[in-house]
Amino acid sequence: MDEETRQATPASGTPRPAAPCSLLSLEPDVHRYFARLARAYGPLFSLRLGTRLCVVLSSPAAVREALKDHDVIFANRDPPAAITAFPRAQHGLHWSPHGIVWRTLRKVTVREFISGGGNEALRSLLRREVRRAIARLRAREGEPVEVWELVFTTAYNVLTSMLWGGLSEDGDVSVEFRAVVEGVIELLQAPNVSDFFPALVTLDLQGVGRRMKRMWDRYDVYWEKFVEEGGRRGEEDERKGGKAFLQGMVEVLERREQNDPLTMDHFKALFMELIVGGTDTPFPRSPRSS
Ligand code: HEM
Repeated sequence: MDEETRQATPASGTPRPAAPCSLLSLEPDVHRYFARLARAYGPLFSLRLGTRLCVVLSSPAAVREALKDHDVIFANRDPPAAITAFPRAQHGLHWSPHGIVWRTLRKVTVREFISGGGNEALRSLLRREVRRAIARLRAREGEPVEVWELVFTTAYNVLTSMLWGGLSEDGDVSVEFRAVVEGVIELLQAPNVSDFFPALVTLDLQGVGRRMKRMWDRYDVYWEKFVEEGGRRGEEDERKGGKAFLQGMVEVLERREQNDPLTMDHFKALFMELIVGGTDTPFPRSPRSS
């Protein structure tokens, strides 16, 4: 433990509590609020939000200690109620517990997604989508433009092309599937009382779990369609020097040996995660544009 963190930590080794904080005293700019509490309580303090005990780390040394020196202890993420209410959504990289499934998924993702498509194929895909974005902007010259919408669409097109080799030629399918992606993002971000009072998860008072299940049922239908189309396009893509991630995944499953932990459900959850992670994290919708 570094000196700064040690001084702020009582002898018992448990972080000093920040007594006044409760759900009702949280401020919308949570990072600034926590920074203010850290000035009073030190770089390592705990607080209760609902019945959950949370720990805030706010110095580079404290963060390094937890996420680097003891990364295995802190490796697991705590899924939100929208995810715990629906187990199949937990099979991807983000929520899989640290272990064999997570390690195998990560290895396959790095191999097939990040380096599998071929650099030249990826470059030409990016060029094509940036040109399309510029053409869309030109077509609206003189009119107000929703920049977030333009950037989200471009990122979404790049990702779906990398994952499935592009969505169905039928434009409606792409629009409908995007509604599913946006629905999942909305449910993940919706304030949910079960996140702060986990005993309420099974009651699903706000229906977030039920709505997530409906979104996933719709996703299942598109998934079957995209897998079927992707299989048909696979050979053609390979001839062009690129290979969609889906092709790589199907090959991994075909080569699968008895003890391999991955199934199609893992890839289905992973694909959704990569689209959500690749669109909403880098380009979050600003509060004013919603
Ligand atoms: C500005 C861009 C981004 C930011 C700020 C960001 C932030 C993060 C953070 C903080 C984590 C958790 C890391 C941890 O707990 O150790 C994470 C994990 C993850 N992100 Fe991103 N991300 C970004 C872009 C992306 C993109 C473009 C994708 C997909 C194409 C993506 C997919 C993922 C996935 C799959 C994980 C889980 C990784 C694992 O468990 O091994 N992210 N991201």
